[in-house]
Amino acid sequence: MNRSFLFVPADSERKMKKAGDAGADALILDLEDSVAPEVRPEARLMASEYLQGKQDVWVRINPFDSEDAAADLEAVMPAEPTGIVLPKARSAADAIALSRRIDELEQRHGIEQGQTRIIVLCTERPEALFTLHGYVGATERLLGLSWGAEDLSVAVGASANRDEQGNWLPAFEMARSLCLLAAAAAEVTAIDTVFTDFRDAEGLLRYAEGARRTGFSGMLAIHPAQVAVINTAFEPSTAEIEHAESIVELFDANPGAGTVGLDGKMIDRPHLAQAQRLLERAKHTKNQK
Ligand code: COA
Ligand code: MG
Repeated sequence: MNRSFLFVPADSERKMKKAGDAGADALILDLEDSVAPEVRPEARLMASEYLQGKQDVWVRINPFDSEDAAADLEAVMPAEPTGIVLPKARSAADAIALSRRIDELEQRHGIEQGQTRIIVLCTERPEALFTLHGYVGATERLLGLSWGAEDLSVAVGASANRDEQGNWLPAFEMARSLCLLAAAAAEVTAIDTVFTDFRDAEGLLRYAEGARRTGFSGMLAIHPAQVAVINTAFEPSTAEIEHAESIVELFDANPGAGTVGLDGKMIDRPHLAQAQRLLERAKHTKNQK
């Protein structure tokens, strides 16, 4: 399970060189918003070169309805990225169309069919928010849904997307929640968006811990310094693991019980499922280290 995805502008040799040492579970080479259109052809070549023989490296292409998207895919697919990050999706139809395009490219380049995964940024266009149920059963390639506040802000004409305390303003918190719920409905992971204030490690830690409690399984990063903070935040704490173990043990000791008491609190079946899930997750992140 990926805790951290570090964005790396694909036009920057310097950043690409640094990215591998950041400790991120995955990298996303960006060909979209962090790369100026005139250097995109060069960035495609750099991305494709970087990808050679690497694992856990994704590529963010341009929106599927742009001319750049086709050129992005042509350039990077032969180098077998782990997956493609699709920005500004209009609806799941864009992800399905992307998946079909990848089918062709995998076939052409002798890549195992279905190997290339997809993550969709599903809230960057306002109209997309009304179609999120479409991700249910859309494509086997879908690994997760993530969301973005910056493009959505521009689209709705907002000059801010957070309040003075740094909390999301309502429209953006709603987009975030809808992304989380759509991911749960589609049975894929929910990945929280970037925390743009990359010098504020304390604020990031608080935010990322909140994101995990809310149900997100990982988060996007924009700076190497954010990676360790995010990795820590998305790992269950020892206290949480112990609590989950007590719940599982209690149900094991009381087979057939629907509900039990623990430390003066009612624990029922949903808590058991939650505890099992947390332990499963803790096991995965441990294997990763
Ligand atoms: N990946 C890899 N290395 C990175 C990096 C990243 N995302 N961001 C910064 N670095 C490197 C810098 O190159 C620098 O290394 P150097 O001293 O060898 O040049 C070092 O980390 C420290 O960087 P710093 O000086 O603190 O930041 P900066 O001002 O150079 O860069 C940003 C700030 C925001 C421009 C940069 O972090 C960045 O490009 N982030 C990704 C942006 C992106 O992809 N956006 C799209 C998704 S929203
Ligand atoms: Mg963007």
